[in-house]
Amino acid sequence: MPSLTRSERASPALFGQSEKKDLSARADWSAYASAYDLLSEHNPDYKALLRDFETFLTTIEPPELIYDIGGGTGNYTQIAARCCPDSEIRLVEPDAGMTGLAQAKLAGFENVSYQTCGLEGVDAKGKADLVICVHALYAMPSQEQRLGELRRLLRPGGWLYLIDLGRYMNVADWRGYLFRSLREKLGLLGALRVFWQGREIAKQNTSILNAQKKGVYWTHSAEEMAAAVTDAGFEIVRQESVYRGYSDLLVCRAAPLEPGREDRS
Ligand SMILES: C[S@@+](CC[C@H](N)C(=O)[O-])C[C@H]1O[C@@H](n2cnc3c(N)ncnc32)[C@H](O)[C@@H]1O
Repeated sequence: MPSLTRSERASPALFGQSEKKDLSARADWSAYASAYDLLSEHNPDYKALLRDFETFLTTIEPPELIYDIGGGTGNYTQIAARCCPDSEIRLVEPDAGMTGLAQAKLAGFENVSYQTCGLEGVDAKGKADLVICVHALYAMPSQEQRLGELRRLLRPGGWLYLIDLGRYMNVADWRGYLFRSLREKLGLLGALRVFWQGREIAKQNTSILNAQKKGVYWTHSAEEMAAAVTDAGFEIVRQESVYRGYSDLLVCRAAPLEPGREDRS
């Protein structure tokens, strides 16, 4: 891993300061929501991430308080709610379309509550034992601050389960890969049907790519990701390249906060 100085690691370029950027170049999460769960049904790599998370839960003490930040349609919250029935789970998701689908999906779980806001507006009462943040950090402004907020949500020693898209979303590459995988599973007509149903996914992934290219969404290498979470006060327990090399998975523990970085909530 290349060693970067702290100022290099924390440079505005790395953290995608978005003040002067074209903020219209972002995904429409409500439009994405309508087709989002085709991923959990049909994308083998999305499913592999869900399985990894479920396995991870079996390796830790049952958490009392869990946040799912940028929880989307609630797929990670659903696993947490099923595997940790005694945990309190707070799903934080700013998009009303995504939240609506999560609420419908998770209606049977009494241990789940919702905050329809971004990480930057979260109501953080009590310290969490586990924070989940999957494929959401790259879409937020000012990742350095956001990582600091993720750290302050946790008690020292608490877990961060973080997956983030780091590399450019190559839509043609994903399209070819998913089509081959669907054709194998469902035949040509079945694959075409799912592609038609999921056309909003391709559209929104193209928006994500455009936002990445304009620097509105954060892109990073595995090394930059590791440096950013370490700077924010985490110890990395496991790091892997996942999602066909597009994303980084990091399982981290919250280190004790340095003086002056304490949570005031
Ligand atoms: C690609 S989806 C991931 C959803 C879910 N974590 C999953 O993996 O299935 C990204 C989510 O991040 C949310 N998001 C965007 N900006 C956010 C912010 N500032 N704070 C929290 N979530 C945010 C979006 O609304 C969207 O639902």
